[in-house]
Amino acid sequence: MLDRPIMTAPRLDSAEAPAPRHGPPKPAMLTLEQAKAMDVATMADLFKEHINPGQFHFMKLLGFHKVKVERAEGMFYIDQNGRKILDFFGGFGSLAFGHNHPRILNARKQFQDEKRHEIAIAFLSQYAAALAKNVAACSPGDLDMVFLGSSGSEAMEAAIKVAERASGRKNCKIVHAENSFHGKTKGVLSITDSPLYKGEFKLVENTYRVPFGDLKALTAVVRSDPDVGVVVLETVQGGGGIIEAPTDYWQGVRALCDQHKVIWVADEVQCGYGRTGRFYAFEHHGVIPDVTALAKSFGGGKAAMAAMVARRDVYMKAYGTPKTAMIHAHATFGGIGEGCATSIEALNTLYDEDLIGNAAAVGTYLKDRLTAIQAKYPSIVKDVRGRGLMIGLEFHDFSQTLPFALRPMVALLDDKLKGSLSGFVGALLLKDYDCLVAFTEYNRNVIRLEPPLICTHENVDQFCDALDALLGRGIVSIVKDFVKTQIG
Ligand SMILES: Cc1ncc(COP(=O)(O)O)c(C=O)c1O
Repeated sequence: MLDRPIMTAPRLDSAEAPAPRHGPPKPAMLTLEQAKAMDVATMADLFKEHINPGQFHFMKLLGFHKVKVERAEGMFYIDQNGRKILDFFGGFGSLAFGHNHPRILNARKQFQDEKRHEIAIAFLSQYAAALAKNVAACSPGDLDMVFLGSSGSEAMEAAIKVAERASGRKNCKIVHAENSFHGKTKGVLSITDSPLYKGEFKLVENTYRVPFGDLKALTAVVRSDPDVGVVVLETVQGGGGIIEAPTDYWQGVRALCDQHKVIWVADEVQCGYGRTGRFYAFEHHGVIPDVTALAKSFGGGKAAMAAMVARRDVYMKAYGTPKTAMIHAHATFGGIGEGCATSIEALNTLYDEDLIGNAAAVGTYLKDRLTAIQAKYPSIVKDVRGRGLMIGLEFHDFSQTLPFALRPMVALLDDKLKGSLSGFVGALLLKDYDCLVAFTEYNRNVIRLEPPLICTHENVDQFCDALDALLGRGIVSIVKDFVKTQIG
């Protein structure tokens, strides 16, 4: 329990005494107005008390716990002090349209004003139908069948299920890549390559793991076991630290899967939806997978929406009869009305505003500027990679950023210190330069830059000028300045 009261409930005077009630009394709950007016200290208390005390520890280390977002518009969060924070984190790619795009807000408002319906179960939904048609229109080849859900994990669960059934293997095995991230629900957690996230849960055991981008290794596994029926790969690994594979790898994956009648699932939850400068990242390589998945920006930054998209013949093999169709029918909120309306408006906006073209053009500018920064600070920045507005900035191991004499001693601690420089830089970018960046699950030396696709050259300049100024302080000052944030 908290050791101080949060807020007192409003008192009712006797003239407003409620009618006698038959149900349970209303618990001591906060109102929406009270939520809106909450101060940062109370937010912190409630987060620790009811959500995740351990996570709070990390937010505090980075200084993120001091921010209360009052508004968010376009490329910026606006905090309780009116400070504008440039969003280069972008919700790990969930904010293609920036915050509160007016066209998307308007579509939602209209949907509400017209009192449209939400649940798409008893009756057909014109919104789910239109959205599925639009997704098929954006997808190459016969990627025509769409399952609507509300998270990337759910879409990927649907993807591995349709793939397993379509593969026809009774004892189907699934191949995934090293450093993969496909979600945290138990099915896809089984193919997420993280001992940390996997904990000690009892997971699906029918999996193989191969290095990402290594066609020989993939071929060997597929050839070694006829039960291998599904290959699941992110087209660009996000959690792995923005890792791409070359076109001949993807063409090899397609040919291998065709040859062995294996279903290829391309996870485009993070890299899809225009982020890399094509609607799907696999389109850069002239190949089409059998199944794919979209989420994140698919909900226009306002709704929790996701889609699994399958080639029609794959779908029909899995669920093509009336009996099997019901195995696959969506969950309670699959195809929810306002979510679909939001996603329809979002997809139209994506093309009307040429945001995919903008991601390509501004992404090239961002990468060029970051490459120049790498050249200026070669002992700090190890690599700049990615394409479009999905860019990874990798720092050297901490010891390598220090003066020569200190390196051998500190190198012993490099593994433990992984992520510390990203943390220092991320914390100081926020504190001193009003810029927000994202960290990376597996390679913690990488900062992920996934700004909204509405990002402009000026936004890139603001961010890169800030990073340049920060790195220009030198590593010793960066560490000292970070330490000051912890004691100040
Ligand atoms: C590649 C990829 N797949 C799946 C997921 C899971 O999506 P969600 O967090 O919406 O469940 C993520 C989330 O970051 C992701 O990056």
